[in-house]
Amino acid sequence: MALPAESGKAAFVRAMFDRISPRYDFMNRLMTFGRDQAWRRRAIDLLELEPGAVMLDLGCGTGDLAAEAARRRAVAIGLDFSEGMLREAKGRDGGFALVRGDALAIPLASRSCDAIASGFALRNFSGLARVFGEWARVLKPGGRFALLEVDSPRNALLRLGHHTYFHGVVPLLGRLIADRSAYSYLSSSVAYLPAEHELFEMLRRAGFEALAKEHLLAGAVQIVTGRRAAERVQNDAGTF
Ligand SMILES: C[S@@+](CC[C@H](N)C(=O)[O-])C[C@H]1O[C@@H](n2cnc3c(N)ncnc32)[C@H](O)[C@@H]1O
Repeated sequence: MALPAESGKAAFVRAMFDRISPRYDFMNRLMTFGRDQAWRRRAIDLLELEPGAVMLDLGCGTGDLAAEAARRRAVAIGLDFSEGMLREAKGRDGGFALVRGDALAIPLASRSCDAIASGFALRNFSGLARVFGEWARVLKPGGRFALLEVDSPRNALLRLGHHTYFHGVVPLLGRLIADRSAYSYLSSSVAYLPAEHELFEMLRRAGFEALAKEHLLAGAVQIVTGRRAAERVQNDAGTF
């Protein structure tokens, strides 16, 4: 499907998640054969949260990452701009706080978080340099982030199988069960993901170090981690 232009992307994304929110969790479990929660647990493992650590789940949706952090006795805050997704998150007893807000202007004080987790939200954000500038602002020096996203396997045969599944089966399941255009968008939106070297360069410029990437499911899923450096470097967005 044709992706929305950058200027209309945020409104498009918010309206889409409002629409699919009641079926979002069900579709996630179905599309990933129930593996998605194990990936979220791994992302939270990589943050090495101490009890009482403050973790922001950015683009929290129904709050799976925040709930996992809360289970580990972190103080978890879920932030999202979709009312529908936040309504679903509120409906569970996840033991975390919820904030309605925009990843481009996080309504939290500078250096207020020990960690940030973000699951499958990156390709939905507009203005990544600005988003990463916000991460660097709200994280304490030494604070860690874990970014969980889809990826494409390196092996050609696996890539072909993955492409067929992700661009053929997923939109079909979405059309049958949830929302036709939303699940076509979710597949097509991988085009928004920067290549690994570009992503790492953006993160470095925003002031992150110790960047690493872990592959899951034969490379179909990635977790990128990093740490906020003590001294931050001015980034392109000039947000600090
Ligand atoms: C694919 S869902 C992921 C939800 C959840 N993190 C998960 O792991 O399932 C992406 C979420 O990011 C949110 N989102 C996208 N852009 C956002 C922005 N600029 N600010 C806040 N939330 C945003 C959407 O509303 C949506 O709930």
